[in-house]
Amino acid sequence: MCGIVGYIGNRDSKEVLIEGLKKLEYRGYDSAGIAVFTNNGLEIRKSKGRIAMLEDKLKSEPIEGTVGIGHTRWATHGKPSDVNSHPHTDNSSKFSVVHNGIVENYLDLKDELGAKGHVFVSETDTEVISHLIADEYDGDIVSAVQRAVKRMRGAYALGVLTEYEPTKLVAVRFASPLVIGIGENENFIGSDIPAILEYTRNVYILNDGEMAVLTRSGVELMTTSGDIISKEIFHVDWDLVTAEKAGFDHFMLKEIHEQPKAYRDTMLGRISDDGKSVELKEIGMTTEQIRGISRIHIVACGTAFHAGLVGKTVIESLARIPVETDVASEYRYRSPIITPDTLVIVVSQSGETADTLAALREAKRNGARVLAITNVVGSSVARDADDVITTWAGPEIAVASTKGYSSQLIAFYLLGLYLAQERGTVEEAKVAEIVAAMNKLPDQVESILEQANVFKGVAESMSKHDNLFFIGRGLDFAVAQEGSLKLKEISYIHSEAYAAGELKHGTLALIEDGVPVIALVTQEDLYEKTLSNIKEVKARGAHVLGVANAGYEGEVMKSVDEVFSIPRTLPLLTPALSVVPLQLLSYYASLARGNDVDKPRNLAKSVTVE
Ligand code: F6R
Repeated sequence: MCGIVGYIGNRDSKEVLIEGLKKLEYRGYDSAGIAVFTNNGLEIRKSKGRIAMLEDKLKSEPIEGTVGIGHTRWATHGKPSDVNSHPHTDNSSKFSVVHNGIVENYLDLKDELGAKGHVFVSETDTEVISHLIADEYDGDIVSAVQRAVKRMRGAYALGVLTEYEPTKLVAVRFASPLVIGIGENENFIGSDIPAILEYTRNVYILNDGEMAVLTRSGVELMTTSGDIISKEIFHVDWDLVTAEKAGFDHFMLKEIHEQPKAYRDTMLGRISDDGKSVELKEIGMTTEQIRGISRIHIVACGTAFHAGLVGKTVIESLARIPVETDVASEYRYRSPIITPDTLVIVVSQSGETADTLAALREAKRNGARVLAITNVVGSSVARDADDVITTWAGPEIAVASTKGYSSQLIAFYLLGLYLAQERGTVEEAKVAEIVAAMNKLPDQVESILEQANVFKGVAESMSKHDNLFFIGRGLDFAVAQEGSLKLKEISYIHSEAYAAGELKHGTLALIEDGVPVIALVTQEDLYEKTLSNIKEVKARGAHVLGVANAGYEGEVMKSVDEVFSIPRTLPLLTPALSVVPLQLLSYYASLARGNDVDKPRNLAKSVTVE
């Protein structure tokens, strides 16, 4: 996920581009750049780091011109660096491209163009696009772009300039968002409306396979096959703050709703076409090395630690390797037994958590191989680990992690299956069954989200209490711990998560009339045992909300006060669904208490101190 902007008009384009990029920084912020037509031709300034770094560069190396394109990057192909930053260009430096998306066949195209003499300087897929357009160019930039995109597979929103036709800015979209802003004697492009809202409220929203040719005086719309089209102008009547949140009241709610996409993106390209195997090309271990792993330590903090609890069960049950999950801040101090055949898996959404980084370094010092699961390409954790599985959840802004956690679960499912395949501990048919069920998860999450409002009422009554409990067995207990943390951190309601069978060993003393208990009952083999534990709290006056699999809600309802059903999936995969109602409950409870949902007190998104 990156952000792109473009401007053609009479203003100083760099001002418009920089302002637009700042509005898009939520889409990624590991590097930024702009390309502008100046008196010397097409000039590019780009820099690793936040947009402020680019602004500094522009002070020492100014450029001026009234046509330009800009980009803020969230690295996918190639680490964050000056050279991997956009805009990219071709060998003649006559073409410049900004891109949001992933070109899946870029390596094939790169080989082909390389054979024709094109020389590449970056590791990115985008650089290939600028060379491809240059290669296709025969005097008309519009048809060159059309021919180029026909050869590309994947997702793209592009802004393209060429020095040969300095009165045109070409924009094209497939599977990545792109809007065109219509002004007076000036026109704009942006990944999203906020990027251009300061200048115009009239926009065209491009669909897949559509493109726009912008000049100062107008915008021509067409398909990538060259058919001219007309579109209605969309008049934006909301303000900037709402726009950045894509219409949601808070980033957290937006990110909860982005989970189906995060699941799809994290699985994309990692499952074979026939759905019978998992392909994790990013793991550099040989089959022999994987077979030689004697134990796994999963190390992480907070929510990522909770994902690691699920990861333990997933890996143990599929790959039959003993796994311990540790809180990173404790790991180093308990002198863990780390041998060269120990695989240490560190999990970190931000990739910058100091405790997790310190644990990673300790593991490496002791000779372990370290695999990172992180959401941020080029983060410290990603750089220091031997292997990296990136979760493609996109930038997470709300302090409370939601899509970060659930995409970590997807990473663990993929990893568990991959290790199991390599070690020969699962049959192909079993892999196919799990993969098929995983493919259904995004739609199943959508179906839960469609009922999001159901949680408002429950959360409002919960918000009147100062204490509550989450209970569950097995994987339900792991998810209960995440549900409890989420509720505490944003609603400030004290809650505890308990293994349902453990309550009677002490905690039951805290249950009295009206105490809310959220009971997860999704593990069908533990179903009857959990129902017995629910009856124990009911008998002491608790008000119980059950989360149960579809088809079981009637039976569960006999033991609880309210029940919410989640779509049926394989027992191992239920955490990827059952966490969603808990996220929504926390969100609405926080809202009901009038808290700052996205920025809860005392907390920070990235914890870089030990
Ligand atoms: C809770 C939350 C934190 C983080 C923890 C680790 O919602 O977000 O508990 O999970 O601080 O952060 P990362 O995953 O960035 O290492």
